[in-house]
Formats: sequence, structure tokens, C-alpha cells
Amino acid sequence: MSSHPHGGTLINRWRPDVETESIQQEVELDAFALSDLELIGVGAFSPLTGFLGEKEYRSVVDHMRLSNGLPWSIPITLPVSREKADQLRIGQRVKLVKDGVLYGVLQLEEKYSPDKEWEAKQVYLTTETDHPGVAKLFSRPEIYLAGPIELVRRPAKRFADRHLDPADTRKIFADKGWKTIVGFQTRNPVHRAHEYIQKTALETVDGLFLNPLVGETKAGDIPAPVRMESYEVLLEHYYPAGRVFLAVFPAAMRYAGPREAIFHALVRKNFGCTHFIVGRDHAGVGNYYGTYDSQKIFSEFTPEELGITPLFFEHSFYCRKCENMASTKTCPHGNEDHVVLSGTKVREMLRNGERPPATFSRPEVADVLIRGLQKETQTTG
Ligand code: ADX
Repeated sequence: MSSHPHGGTLINRWRPDVETESIQQEVELDAFALSDLELIGVGAFSPLTGFLGEKEYRSVVDHMRLSNGLPWSIPITLPVSREKADQLRIGQRVKLVKDGVLYGVLQLEEKYSPDKEWEAKQVYLTTETDHPGVAKLFSRPEIYLAGPIELVRRPAKRFADRHLDPADTRKIFADKGWKTIVGFQTRNPVHRAHEYIQKTALETVDGLFLNPLVGETKAGDIPAPVRMESYEVLLEHYYPAGRVFLAVFPAAMRYAGPREAIFHALVRKNFGCTHFIVGRDHAGVGNYYGTYDSQKIFSEFTPEELGITPLFFEHSFYCRKCENMASTKTCPHGNEDHVVLSGTKVREMLRNGERPPATFSRPEVADVLIRGLQKETQTTG
């Protein structure tokens, strides 16, 4: 028995046969909105059935809750230009298209002007445009459309057999007989510290759901196809096949730190997880959030209303004195004994064809990343 979907019902807005020919109006989606559309449609964002109206938007931005009190920390919105919004009438059905392809229909219930400064302050805790989530928020158009959606066509699945819906993963976990499942969010390759916290969690639960985010990420993050290859090779060499399941999370990354940690947990609950790993600076970027702020925020909700148990981990590393992986909670030695490398430093090494130490990254993983990043340099540079 995996956990109940958030709000009690797994939403399904998949309507491939719905009539769309008579619909006149259309809105062009960006990649961000298209991934939100898909995730609403398949129930990953249950209980949402569409893009948030003003009352729900304000409630989420101000209180991290929907107006019925249910926790929800990230506003899911559909921004369009004022000019586009002026062409649309409330009550109309609107085609949602990208690059000439129809993906969904919006039943337009509302159009409203958000206070983006306020949204940035509340959700990202900063209005600085150096923050990639804030930059994205401000770069999108100024009017939000709202209403329930129907998903009529699936965006191309880049990782076909690893792209599963919440209904699928719930069934898979049940078939495996897993009662407790820990979800792991990542936008990075899995290095030894990630492996350590995953396996530490796996000591006490039935299964690990490795669920890398593969939607839009900021420039500089390692591309999803390269990461996927690195996860496959890691699982093949270092994980017991029957205890781990890998599938992608096709969402865009918000870099909203604490608020995104809550969001990530709720969404993984919809995929069937009972537990969720939150390590250091979860979903953070730069120095915008305190190292453990993404853990502290969980105390603003009761366990019952979240319905998924967070598993917190402190900063983890290899310790040369302990001769094993450890964290600040379990190792008495100083920084000089710990193998800690910054993401920037590691990417630089990989781009130069250099393996980071095996105490930091598995050699098989390093080799995949080196190959992948060199290919990337050849095609882009
Ligand atoms: S995230 O933006 O998706 O959170 P990342 O892929 O780096 O970034 O992290 C995935 C998960 O591992 C997060 O829960 C994060 O807090 C945790 N994590 C990453 N590195 C460490 C580390 N060295 N020690 C403890 N937790 C870590």
C-alpha cells in the first residue's frame, strides 16, 4: 500500500478524444507551461485540475496552502501577454499549443494580474534576478490565465521507457510488494554523497524511487540525457536491482529551495512514495537559502496534512580518517579529512576529461559524464 494521493484522489485529465476542432482561440505555451500541463493532466500535481485562479494563487503564495487548507507551496500558473489575454473571453475553451502542436485545452475561468514582486519574495525569498527562478518568473508574460485543463496529446517522451505516470508507478510499487518507498529528487548526477543518503534510507524502507528531474533546468546544470545514462550505469554496478526503480520527473526546476522541497515531497507522494529524502540545501541555488532551510520548513505542517514522511540528511561526504561515507552527524573529524568538491569544480574536471576521486564519484559514473560533456562541448562549442 503506497500513500494516498494528495487531496485523496489521483487526478486524471487525459482526454485524447475530446472535441477541439470548433475551438477558435489558442495560447502558445513555453516549455515550462507545457511540462506543467502534462503533470497536471497525469495527476502528478493532484489535487490540481488546472492552472490556479486568483484566490488559490494568493492562498498558495501567502500561506503555502490551497484555500481549503491543503498544503501546496508552489503556484502553478499560465502566463500570457496582456494582448493575448485581451483576445480571450471568460467561459471560452482555449487551445494550448506549442510549436503548432495542440497539447491541451483550457476552460478559461479567470484572467488576472499577479504581483510578481510579491510572488518572488514569498516563493523564492528574493527578488534578485540573479536567482534563476526569479529571472524565469519575471521573464514570463504578465497576465495569468486560469481554469481546468484537459490533456489531449502527450509531449514527446525523451526517455520513453523511463517516463511513467503516477498511476503507473503506483502499480509498479504495488506489484513489487513495496509498502514503504522513499523518493529521491535530483537535478545532478548521483555522486557518492547522494548514493550514501539513498542507501542509508534504503536500509529502513522497501524500495528507492530514483526520480531525477528532467524538465527545464538552468544553464550549467548537466543535461538530462547525460545524467540518465549516468544513473543507469550507477544502478547496474552498485544497486540491488530489486530494490530500486528509476523513472524521470518531467518538471521544470524552480530553484525555490524550501518551498520547492515541500512541493517535491507532495508530488512524489502522488507517484506513490511514503518517504522523501531532503538533504542539504535541497532545490537551492547559490547562497539564497540556509543549508537546512529546506528541512526546517517541514515543521510548518503536520505529518498528517503532508501525508509523506521526510527523511532528513546532513551534509554527507567521504572521510579519509573514518575511511567511509559519513555526515556531520556521524563523523568527528575536521574539514581537512573530508572529500568535498563544489559542483563547479567537478564539472570543470569532467569537461577536462578528468575523473573526480573515486571517493567523490563512482568511476563508471565519471566516465559517462566525461563522454557526455565532451560530446556536448563538440556540438555546442
Ligand atoms: S536538487 O536541486 O535536486 O535538490 P541535488 O540533485 O544536488 O539538487 O540534490 C538531490 C538531493 O540530495 C537533495 O535532497 C539534496 O539536499 C541532497 N544532497 C545533495 N548533496 C548532498 C550532500 N553532499 N549531503 C547531503 N545531502 C545532499
